[in-house]
Amino acid sequence: MSTPTSSPSVNLKPETLARIDEVITHYPVKRSATLPLLHLIQEDAGYISEDAILWIAQKLELQPINVLEVVTFYPMFRRAPIGRRHIKVCRTLSCALLGGYKTCENFQKEFNTTLGATSPDGEVTVDFVECLASCGTAPVVLIDETLHEKVDAARVKQISAQIRAEAAARK
Ligand code: FES
Repeated sequence: MSTPTSSPSVNLKPETLARIDEVITHYPVKRSATLPLLHLIQEDAGYISEDAILWIAQKLELQPINVLEVVTFYPMFRRAPIGRRHIKVCRTLSCALLGGYKTCENFQKEFNTTLGATSPDGEVTVDFVECLASCGTAPVVLIDETLHEKVDAARVKQISAQIRAEAAARK
């Protein structure tokens, strides 16, 4: 990866940019903010683009390769865009015990995709996440910004049908 001649740009929400500036101040050495910045960008943009790597490098006064090394070291960082809808299934204890893994598998089947991949129509990405702080209503699924509780096989079907209907309405 080469150093850019012009400033790389990232398309982030103003609150993410503000949070990034704030997070950097928590570290005596800027470089130490690499990991938190990557998390913030992935949370906002859904993945870590080439431009995001260049942008972080510039922001933290590093070489792009230093940022790329971190991105490639940690498997949770995504290098490609996700689907329009992001289905995140909790896999922590309460949800795992009450069928979270099956719920995740059912969503993958509904959208003909695999864990971490995007459905062929570009509509949905299914992922596991850790505890969503709603353990009493397990299994829990976060879809974009909406929390769905007690997501059993029937709810997976219902939710999937709704996602498909919303996708069809956009066409
Ligand atoms: S274990 Fe799933 S929400 Fe806490």
